[in-house]
Amino acid sequence: ILMDHEIQRILGRSVGFAGQIGYALVPMIARGVVLGADQPVILHMLDIPFAAEALNGVKMELVDAAFPLLKGVVATTDVVEACTGVNIAIMVGGFPRKEGMERKDVMSKNVSIYKSQASALEKHAAANCKVVVVANPANTNALILKEFAPSIPEKNITCLTRLDHNRALGQISERLNVQVCDVKNVIIWGNHSSTQYPDVNHATVKTPAGEKPVRELISDDEWLNGEFITTVQQRGAAIIKARKLSSALSAASSACDHIRDWVLGTPEVVIAYGCLQALGFPWAYTLMAHTMYQLGSSIPFLSPVAKENGRLYKVSVQLMILAGLKIDEFSRKKLDLTAEELSEEKALAYSCLS
Ligand code: NAD
Ligand code: LMR
Repeated sequence: ILMDHEIQRILGRSVGFAGQIGYALVPMIARGVVLGADQPVILHMLDIPFAAEALNGVKMELVDAAFPLLKGVVATTDVVEACTGVNIAIMVGGFPRKEGMERKDVMSKNVSIYKSQASALEKHAAANCKVVVVANPANTNALILKEFAPSIPEKNITCLTRLDHNRALGQISERLNVQVCDVKNVIIWGNHSSTQYPDVNHATVKTPAGEKPVRELISDDEWLNGEFITTVQQRGAAIIKARKLSSALSAASSACDHIRDWVLGTPEVVIAYGCLQALGFPWAYTLMAHTMYQLGSSIPFLSPVAKENGRLYKVSVQLMILAGLKIDEFSRKKLDLTAEELSEEKALAYSCLS
């Protein structure tokens, strides 16, 4: 359990740590955005040897920025040194798909990376290390990491779909011209890919007249069931098209949200599944493959996380909400689609390992 005021070691693992997300992420961590304004941190940054000089440049910048909370920086190409004692591991490195490469080629490279990183984390990280996998395919990389780090508690291995969650909040808040923090209980189901299902059926907005369902405030079903979903699903691609680079600022910021809510808890009453799904728990595989609609079965996974924090996820309230969560026919089809893709990715990943 993370204790306030003890120095926390955070591994930002990115091959090419001067990589976009890593570079955007480190100042946020060092400023206290993730663990709070009174939580000292030591950053461990791992890179491959050819990027050692660039990595050292990032270290120099971190020193120059004189972050009061930053109690140390370990910049290394040695995976053991990088993983030793870390409390939180943010896995940003992954092999990108290049022209002429098949999906399987990319998967095969990532599976190997995550297999070896898993072993290093398992052996050298703090016993209760919390892991968030950002690199794509995020859910499947997290699954592989879980497979090869069996002694890290399963509930501690997550992947980032919080960006999708935040994107959904952004779309709703723009449409209604309300503050993003007033939109609650959006759920992202499934894969961090274009098959994900952003579900607003349980979402509400705080208004002067109280909490109102999103579906009451936005009566345009065509938009909610169409453009809204596709915009969120394809936002990553839209950003790549516009920037010629994939999202980095929003990905780094969402990774911070993910960890902050996980470690510090959230004072909001949010739907547990929504919250945890937003945190991108890779158990979506289990849930999707076997018990997708029996949400109650996810309870054993969910409650220990909240209890462990000793913070306010308010899971008991959430679980009551959860018990009444309805999945309509439309949602069911969307869930099937993303579940199918997750299963395919899983099979592909395992075939790469064999
Ligand atoms: P980046 O390309 O700027 O940095 C990552 C670097 O690591 C690249 O140079 C890459 O080639 C290199 N790399 C990784 N593994 C390698 C290996 N084994 N050998 C050689 N080079 C290797 O990437 P970025 O923009 O920081 O994004 C990092 C990852 O995060 C990508 O996989 C991206 O698709 C993913 N991403 C995820 C989300 C999310 O919400 N889950 C959002 C945005 C991006
Ligand atoms: C994103 O959602 O922005 C990224 O996952 C896109 C990508 O393919 O890197």
